[in-house]
Parts: sequence; structure tokens; C-alpha cells
Amino acid sequence: MLDFGCGAGFDLFVASKLVGERGRVCGIDLTEDMATRARENLALAGIANFEIKKVDSETIPYHDHDFDAVISNGVINLSPCKQTAFTEIYRVIKPGGRLQFADVILENDLPASLAGNAEAWSQ
Ligand SMILES: C[S@@+](CC[C@H](N)C(=O)[O-])C[C@H]1O[C@@H](n2cnc3c(N)ncnc32)[C@H](O)[C@@H]1O
Repeated sequence: MLDFGCGAGFDLFVASKLVGERGRVCGIDLTEDMATRARENLALAGIANFEIKKVDSETIPYHDHDFDAVISNGVINLSPCKQTAFTEIYRVIKPGGRLQFADVILENDLPASLAGNAEAWSQ
């Protein structure tokens, strides 16, 4: 299982339980800080079947059809090139595999009072 934008690795805790000892969980993140934090957190939890990579863009450093499933939480929304992100995600999923992601989308333009308000953005 691959976590696209794994952050500190919290969803990989759950993923590692789902895949079991014979499975493998991988995480990629845009920042070295988060990749390092994920590695430290998973190791602290005694999880061994993981690999975390820092990436530079939406390009995923794995082969075609490497994963049964890709998960992503709050990341695709941040991507400046969503088409590339989805193309890459589908490239690394096995035929019949699954993408499960959570994100926020806007259906309408924000009112001006909210659009430039960083506090509203984080709520
Ligand atoms: C809102 S955090 C979510 C982290 C994690 N998914 C979670 O639910 O805790 C977004 C993360 O996505 C990473 N990120 C943003 N764009 C990315 C990209 N194109 N590829 C990989 N990671 C990315 C950020 O560095 C950050 O760690």
C-alpha cells in the first residue's frame, strides 16, 4: 500500500496493520522533514515493513502496478498539477487495485472575506 503525501506517517500505522507482516507499506512526501518524521514514528512503533521516500514533485518513484492500493489524505488538493498526480497514482496501482483519498473541494468561489483569510483556510 502507498500513502501519497504521508506526512508524519499516521495513516501508515493503520495501513501496516491492514497489510500484515507479509505486506509492505510505503509513503512518499514532498518534504524531507515529514519523511524523516514518518520514518522515526513508524520505527518507534516497532513497524518494520515500511519504506518512506522524499519526492520532488508529483512523480511517484515506483514501478507501474507496484501497489494493490494507494491512499491519500489532504494532499491532492495541495498539488499544483492534479492531472499528473492522478496519472501517476493510477500508473502505480495494479489492475483492479484501489485509490482511496480524502480531500476538500470547492464547488463555488469563496466570498472575498474568506478567500484571503488564512485562519478560515485552516478551519
Ligand atoms: C495536510 S498534510 C497530510 C499528511 C497526511 N496525509 C495525514 O493525513 O496526516 C499534507 C502532506 O502532503 C505533503 N505533500 C504535498 N504535496 C505533495 C506531493 N506532490 N507529493 C507528496 N507529498 C506532498 C506535504 O509535505 C504534507 O506532509
